Amino acid sequence: MAELLDSQSRPLRDLRISLTDVCNFRCTYCMPADYDYKFLSDKQRMNLEEIDRFVRLFTQLGVERVRLTGGEPLLRPDIVNIVAAISSYDLKDIALTTNGQLLAKHAAELKNAGLRRVTVSLDAVGPLVFKKMSGGRGSYRSVLEGIDEAISTGLTPLKVNSVVEKGMNEDQILPLADLAYEKGITVRYIEFMDVGNKNNWHKEDVISSKEILETISSKYDVEPKDPAFYGEVASHYNFKEKDGGIGLISSVTQPFCQSCTRGRLSAEGHLYTCLFATEGMDLLTPMRKGASDDELLELIGGLWQKREDRYSEERFDLKNQKRKKVEMFHIGG
Ligand code: GTP
Ligand code: 5AD
Ligand code: SF4
Ligand code: SF4
Repeated sequence: MAELLDSQSRPLRDLRISLTDVCNFRCTYCMPADYDYKFLSDKQRMNLEEIDRFVRLFTQLGVERVRLTGGEPLLRPDIVNIVAAISSYDLKDIALTTNGQLLAKHAAELKNAGLRRVTVSLDAVGPLVFKKMSGGRGSYRSVLEGIDEAISTGLTPLKVNSVVEKGMNEDQILPLADLAYEKGITVRYIEFMDVGNKNNWHKEDVISSKEILETISSKYDVEPKDPAFYGEVASHYNFKEKDGGIGLISSVTQPFCQSCTRGRLSAEGHLYTCLFATEGMDLLTPMRKGASDDELLELIGGLWQKREDRYSEERFDLKNQKRKKVEMFHIGG
């Protein structure tokens, strides 16, 4: 089959699947605690068989890496079976992004089911700032236990994702680099983004990757590392003469739409071709109404071929200022 390309010649290589919109945290930058959220019912969410079928179809269109996200994916009672089903496909990578709260409990069974690695979101070292960022939910100690358990189980290379938001956790940049150094892992700093319409984003609240790197370089000697694959989101730096390092995800100051090979499937089976999209294409309804594999492949392929998204490159255009965007906990980041 000819390679599937979008209108900017970008292939579809990565599928990010949100397993649930529910989360046990209320991070200020994603799901601020002062809203009353309405969640999908179990019936509205893709079930195990549907997820399995979508993964099979997407691999036929060129997907080679799958990432499981949420909300919080470890809140799915069938998470281990989902991983086991997906791991039967010929994929280069199967990873999961979690807030880490329930990770210690699940790490070993996830590894046994075929998960390769995890990325843990952690925005602070120490309970005080942690609670401020997580909306008062969860425990810093449990997340650290989750990280340690995942490392010892071999869910590696383990990455930590830290969103840096001015006035909230810029004092955590160095302590997080210390954590990377001590544990020999990668901490990736993410520029605070204007995802969704609830997180009260202002460009003044963004701390640029450039500033973050300057702060880290005041203490650590780091050297740039080549990208691991085409379209990798983060720029990585290794510590000199020591395992571990840091990464920078600069969606605001240095957009990477040109090489964006990511499709996103929400928990209710809608396909989004951009993190900042307004709407996705409902694939679950046709699947449940009996669409054949060919019909579904046609829908997905047709949408991808028409894809023009490059939101991060157009972010500051006037027409984007009032755009209604899907929330991050809905499509998983
Ligand atoms: P690996 O590098 O393979 O570990 O994967 P990843 O970078 O895709 O993993 P992860 O889910 O941890 O993504 C890191 C963060 O980068 C996301 O949570 C988003 O905040 C951001 N990000 C990922 N993909 C995109 C994208 O396509 N566009 C934008 N603007 N941000 C993205
Ligand atoms: N800006 C940047 N990153 C975000 N994430 C969630 N919301 C935002 C935002 N507004 C990150 C989380 C998590 C990943 C799935 O997305 O920290 O690591
Ligand atoms: Fe939950 Fe992750 Fe959003 Fe935080 S960033 S509220 S952990 S989905
Ligand atoms: Fe891809 Fe949209 Fe992110 Fe650009 S803004 S990198 S098109 S998901």
